[in-house]
Amino acid sequence: MKLRKLPDKEKDIRNIGNAPEEELEYDPSNVITCENLVKIYKTKDTEVVALQGLDLDIKYGEMMALIGNSGSGKSTLLNMIGGLDRPSAGKLIVNGVDLLRIKQSEVTNYKKNTVGFVWQNNARNLIPYLSARQNVELPMVLAGRGNYRKRSGDLLRLVGLEDRMNNRLRELSGGEQQRVAIAIAMANEPKIILADEPTGAVDTSTATQIFKALRKLNEETGVTVIIVTHDRGVAKRVDRVVAISDGKTSSEFIRKRSYSEELEELDRMSGVEDSDTHEELVVIDRHGRLKLPEEYMETIGVGNNSRIKVDLDGEKIVIYKQPEDME
Ligand SMILES: Nc1ncnc2c1ncn2[C@@H]1O[C@H](COP(=O)(O)OP(=O)(O)OP(=O)(O)O)[C@@H](O)[C@H]1O
Ligand SMILES: [Mg+2]
Repeated sequence: MKLRKLPDKEKDIRNIGNAPEEELEYDPSNVITCENLVKIYKTKDTEVVALQGLDLDIKYGEMMALIGNSGSGKSTLLNMIGGLDRPSAGKLIVNGVDLLRIKQSEVTNYKKNTVGFVWQNNARNLIPYLSARQNVELPMVLAGRGNYRKRSGDLLRLVGLEDRMNNRLRELSGGEQQRVAIAIAMANEPKIILADEPTGAVDTSTATQIFKALRKLNEETGVTVIIVTHDRGVAKRVDRVVAISDGKTSSEFIRKRSYSEELEELDRMSGVEDSDTHEELVVIDRHGRLKLPEEYMETIGVGNNSRIKVDLDGEKIVIYKQPEDME
């Protein structure tokens, strides 16, 4: 099901017996639009609310990271975007496809054309006795795609494996195998690469190689890349980091300068990499609510459900603890 911004007349037809018309609207420069996205896992006697009203827009061609504590809903979000599982409520539109209303029969096509997955431990999905190149060609052959010989070579070059293409997979290191997996994720020209902790199982220098391969694909093909990571080193290298807390977006970290400017500076400073690269922004949701950073609340001595005083001071909003004598 492809959705475009429809002319009014068509909208009326589209919406007969359907949800209100504004639900079909989205910004076409977004590859992903999430609004008030909810996912509830129901088991026999429990319900887990994994996403509770998450809002997030991602533009075509972005390379961004998702961070958050274990259990905060990062993999759940990736699985919804990847069509592996269905959202429970809200809005999720990916590359023009409404994933709350997609028909089951359309899901396979959606997955094949829209997303490529990279997991923490991809080697288990690769075939050890085939060469790197044959592993990359396999999904293209299965999809009936012509020209796979050239494309497998191009992709392996992009991820920096031009010299290892003809080695069997079992002759490659973990990091090299992970880069083969990245080339495979790109095989059928997806719009989005979803990488769930792709550097979770490797050392720092291997993590850097994997990250560089993703960056190069993003820069050279324009594919959107979303990386879930606990690795601060990786998070520091992307332009936007979105933090999820309890199934909602809580804050964003935006790079202060461009990545290339920063690399130049690093060269000058001979590799000191711990300067503060990102600034944290708190996100105000569409109901005007915001989540205050916990350490700020602790510092002024307020907790959840406290009443606080809010003043406008010129162009600033100042938050105070309610003085005791006013309680
Ligand atoms: N298939 C499932 N059935 C039931 N509950 C689930 C399922 N998948 C995830 N959950 C629950 O949903 C919540 C979010 O899980 P999710 O895997 O998205 O977290 P995460 O942020 O990826 O965590 P981690 O960093 O540990 O990978 C957790 O409470 C988890 O237990
Ligand atoms: Mg996870």
